[in-house]
Amino acid sequence: MSIKELAENANHKDFDSKRHQELLDKANEAVANTDVDPRWHPLVHVAPKAGWMNDPNGVCYFNGRYHMFFQHYPYGSKWGPMHWGHATSTDLVTWQRESIALAPSEKYDEDGVWSGTSLVLSEGELAVFYTGNRWVNGEDDTDGKVQTQCLAVSTDGQNFTKLGPILEAPEGVEDIRDPKVWREADRWWMIIGVSAPVEDGPNRGQVWLYSSDDLIDWEFERVLYEDPDPLCYMVECPDFFEMDGKRVLVYCPMTTAPRRGYGQRNGHNNGYAAGDWEPGGEFVVKHEFSQFDWGHHYYAPQSLRVPDGRQIIFGWMGGFELPLASQKDDAWSGHLATPRVLELDDDYVLRATPIAEFAELRDVDNAVVLDEFTLGVDETRELLEDAGPVDIELEVDLTKTSSEQVSLLVNRISDTEYAEVAYDSLSNRVVLDRGKVGSTDRGYRAAPYTGGDVLKLRVIIDRGSVEVIIGDGEHAVSSLVFPREGKRGIALASTGGKIAVNKLAIYPLRSIWA
Ligand code: FRU
Repeated sequence: MSIKELAENANHKDFDSKRHQELLDKANEAVANTDVDPRWHPLVHVAPKAGWMNDPNGVCYFNGRYHMFFQHYPYGSKWGPMHWGHATSTDLVTWQRESIALAPSEKYDEDGVWSGTSLVLSEGELAVFYTGNRWVNGEDDTDGKVQTQCLAVSTDGQNFTKLGPILEAPEGVEDIRDPKVWREADRWWMIIGVSAPVEDGPNRGQVWLYSSDDLIDWEFERVLYEDPDPLCYMVECPDFFEMDGKRVLVYCPMTTAPRRGYGQRNGHNNGYAAGDWEPGGEFVVKHEFSQFDWGHHYYAPQSLRVPDGRQIIFGWMGGFELPLASQKDDAWSGHLATPRVLELDDDYVLRATPIAEFAELRDVDNAVVLDEFTLGVDETRELLEDAGPVDIELEVDLTKTSSEQVSLLVNRISDTEYAEVAYDSLSNRVVLDRGKVGSTDRGYRAAPYTGGDVLKLRVIIDRGSVEVIIGDGEHAVSSLVFPREGKRGIALASTGGKIAVNKLAIYPLRSIWA
């Protein structure tokens, strides 16, 4: 399918590119004229220069560069009428900020160019699919919304022509969004997240499957998936891809289930189900929904098969449970997580670890690298007095460790103020605790520990966030963490016993901004 053919068949042929450009210019200017407070603004994670961001969108490899678009509100640190912000990279490690790519400009997307994905049609021809959002009352969602799946095309990845709606919401369906489109078995396929009305009960979170032979007219195929939680009323940002002949569905369930226990602690959570699927058939689930990252802030992940065959996933570290401290005085909110490479094992268990090339940011000359040592009973050993962004690798022999917790104290302002990353042997969980961090946005999260006798933690610390990858990536805990002003030390601490460290390395990180 070429852009020329799409333009001929399009439903909207009078896109006013001049007006769109004026809106983009205004939005770019607003960002350029906003100064953020740098204290927590990310140095090793993708974010706009200022303003609000949420989901990664349209991630692709196109014309020799990786393109990362994202939900962006340029006029403030709160969620608002969505634009698509834009950054690019040649190596997935260093990034360059680009001009905003899409602004709400048409009747069908006048209240927001919401999330979606990219499809490289051919060398030099890119299509993006997104949800156009419109409030019925023109103001907010109190009287309902109209969500339409839309198409836009580009030859340079920077300037887009909107070709308009390709799929209207069926009667009675209000929340239907975040299209993902791919080519398989000589057809185009699309999945969308839906809040599906059902008889005699609350709406159910489902993923709907459509197919097409021209990318413009779409036929409903089936309900591909329904979240097993009867209180899940909406599925956002579904991503569906093949790995080693199996299928993974990554998605974000929204549920009214009470928050008890460790799982699904956020208003918005992420996870995956895995199974088997053949085009035209049913999705046969072999691995039921499982949370993917247990932190406060990991949402709306979107993955990309990169040219060397790896499936890499990009999540958003931010949240709708507001306010976040950075919003109040600092003029920004949200950043992407470190790109993670996915692996699916024979039991359909998904693992995610930071891409290998992320290590290129390490300043190895200034690293702290400690080989085997034992930390005594109730001992705290300072490792760095004041750290910027760092990448930490910790390996501990649990068979020789008697300490109840293996605690890395980070953002350590004083003996009593720090964030704690700990393996807790009582609950057998890995905890990220912001309770003593000295700022707002407190609370802890804890992921199950499913590793063996050798505990492996990878901890990536940015100015305003901590990502913890556990073991070989079975689980992770990622949260925004906003330390009070002061030094940001790092220490290792034991509780009621000893810690047998195999290896501990702390690498200062260079900025990702080229
Ligand atoms: C998920 C989400 C999407 C929607 C977008 C709007 O975070 O709610 O479902 O398209 O954000 O910004």
